[in-house]
Amino acid sequence: MSQKVLLTGGAGFIGSHTYIELTKAGFDVVVLDNFSNARPDVIDRLEVLTAAPVICYKGDVLDGALLDQIFADHKIDAAIHFAALKAVGESADIPLEYMNTNIAGLYSLLRAMDRAGTNALVFSSSATVYGQPDQLPVPENAPRGYTNPYGFTKLACEQSLEQVAASDSKWAFGILRYFNPAGAHDSALIGEDPSDIPNNLMPYIAKVATGELAELAVFGGDYDTPDGTGVRDYIHVMDLARGHVLSVKALLESGTSHTVNLGTGIGYSVLDMLNAYARAAGKPLPHRIAPRRQGDVASVYADPTQARDLLGFTAELGLDEMCASSWNWVSRRKNT
Ligand code: WQD
Repeated sequence: MSQKVLLTGGAGFIGSHTYIELTKAGFDVVVLDNFSNARPDVIDRLEVLTAAPVICYKGDVLDGALLDQIFADHKIDAAIHFAALKAVGESADIPLEYMNTNIAGLYSLLRAMDRAGTNALVFSSSATVYGQPDQLPVPENAPRGYTNPYGFTKLACEQSLEQVAASDSKWAFGILRYFNPAGAHDSALIGEDPSDIPNNLMPYIAKVATGELAELAVFGGDYDTPDGTGVRDYIHVMDLARGHVLSVKALLESGTSHTVNLGTGIGYSVLDMLNAYARAAGKPLPHRIAPRRQGDVASVYADPTQARDLLGFTAELGLDEMCASSWNWVSRRKNT
C-alpha cells in the first residue's frame, strides 16, 4: 500500500514540481489549492505528465471543515505545506493578510492533522529568516530574524513548529529553507507562471526574453560583490522538489524532525543570471543598472552540508540548466 501525501498549494510552482517527484517515488498524492496563484490547467498538465488522474480539492487551508473532509476521504501519512503568500514587497502592503494566510493557515492545517492523527509535516520555509547573515555560506544555526512581514511569518511558523514538536514527540517536522528557486520541468509543461509583474529575478528576465517586458532593471550595481550586483543561491526547482521527497521520506522512516537549507552553496550575481539567460535564449537581453531595492541584502548563499548529511540531498543542476528549462517553458507557454 503506497503512502499518501497531502500537498497544500500543490498546484503552485514548487508544489506542482514536487507532485511529479513524489509520484515518481511511489507516493500517492492529494492536492489542495485555492488557485489564487496557480492556473487550473496545471492539474491537466500534471495528469499528462503522470499519465494518471490527479486528486485535487479546490479550497483554502483555512477551511477546517474542508481539511477534515480530505482527511476523512484519505488516510494521509504526511503533509507538505506550500500554501502561503510569498511576495516580500506585497507583504509590507498587506501584513495582516500575510499573517492570516501564512500563520493561521499553518495552525489550521496542524489542528486538522492532529484531529486526523497525521503527525508528519514538511514546511516550506525560506532563507529570508536569515536576514543579512553575518557569515557566508550561511549554516542552519545562523541567527534568525526578519526584515519584512513575509519574513516575520516564516519565522513565526518555524518557531511555532518548534514549540509544537517540543510539546509532544508524536510530531515530526521537516523545515526546508529555500534559497532562490528557479527553472522549470524539462517537459516545458509546468513552470513558474506568475499572474502579474514578477517580483523575482528569473521570471522577470524570462518576460524580457519573450518580449512581454521591455528591459530588466538591475537593482543596484554598487554592492560589495564581484560585479557590484546582488548575489543569491539559485536552486533548480527539480532539485528542490527532490529535496522535499527526501524530507518526507526521512520523517516517515525516522519520526524525527530536521531543519535544512535547500540551496546549491554557490552564489551567482544578477549579471551572472542575466548572461546565462541570454545564452539560453540565444540573444542579448536589454537591461539597465537601477537604484537598489528597499530591503535587499548584498549576498546570501547556503551552506548545504546539513541537507547532505541528514537527507542525502545535494543539488545537481546548475545555472545553465535553470535558464534553459525556464526559456523552454516560457517559449512554449507564450504560444499556448
Ligand atoms: C534576487 C536578486 C534582486 C528582480 C525573495 C524572498 C525569498 C524567496 C525568493 C519566496 C536580488 C535582484 C530582482 C529584478 C533585480 N521568496 N533583482 N531585478 O529577494 O533574493 O528572495 O524571493 O520564497 O524568500 O526573500 O529574490 O528574485 O526578488 O531577487 O535586480 O527585477 O535579483 O535585487 O539581488 P530575493 P529576487
